[in-house]
Amino acid sequence: MRISIMTLFPEAVDAMMNESIIGRARRDGKLTICYYQIRDYTKNKQKQVDDYPYGGGMGMVMYADALYNCWADIKATSPDAYTIFMSPQGSVFNQEKAKKLSTEHSHLILVCGHYEGIDERFIEECVDEEISIGDFVLTGGEIPAMAITDAIARMLPGVLSDEECFSEESHFDGLLEYPQYTRPSVWHDREVPEVLLSGHHANIKKWRREQSIIRTYQKRPDMIESAPLTPKEKKFLENFKKEHEI
Ligand SMILES: C[S@@+](CC[C@H](N)C(=O)[O-])C[C@H]1O[C@@H](n2cnc3c(N)ncnc32)[C@H](O)[C@@H]1O
Repeated sequence: MRISIMTLFPEAVDAMMNESIIGRARRDGKLTICYYQIRDYTKNKQKQVDDYPYGGGMGMVMYADALYNCWADIKATSPDAYTIFMSPQGSVFNQEKAKKLSTEHSHLILVCGHYEGIDERFIEECVDEEISIGDFVLTGGEIPAMAITDAIARMLPGVLSDEECFSEESHFDGLLEYPQYTRPSVWHDREVPEVLLSGHHANIKKWRREQSIIRTYQKRPDMIESAPLTPKEKKFLENFKKEHEI
């Protein structure tokens, strides 16, 4: 997988994307991240990338031309690259989208806006999809680009030690993950659930699945409606509700 990030702040993004699991994936050749400094693609002497909005109003808008020159440079050698604009107006990113992007494309171009945003004509001409990381507004697209890169990268083959590392996690199959514990077995008088110390794998698996169902119901009732539960699990949830509801 190759991810090309168009940004005014490549160093800031790289500082984060060189660490830990993503940094190791890059060094191992499982993921390539390239940065494109949008400012390098301006044709004016001052290297200005933005200007006042037509019609007046607050803030500055990034030039379509600087963005286009940068984008065209990437597309020239990779015509199939899929272009995503980081935007609070896009569809909201989730695990399902991360899965889709990690399997359906071998090269993504992530465009980071800044200031008031970017000239609409660049979006019309060059962008395949707009993605938001939530219903709030950030100062730039760099944090969204890092979040999306991270979520995609950890699902690429070989990046994590085992597929189970992400396939059992929250959101992968429509449920939240079960609670996790590590040593010591008693901390501040709080004991780790006994079943986890039993070494009985089938019981542990069953307990974890039930915990996933319970926490999804308690923490994200909006998710439990569409969670893929078996008839037996639905019955388990109904019983749990009866026992715990007033
Ligand atoms: C201050 S925002 C511009 C917001 C724009 N004026 C609007 O109201 O839709 C500057 C840039 O940050 C990025 N950005 C801000 N919030 C975002 C979000 N929730 N998801 C993805 N990108 C975001 C986008 O690239 C955007 O162009």
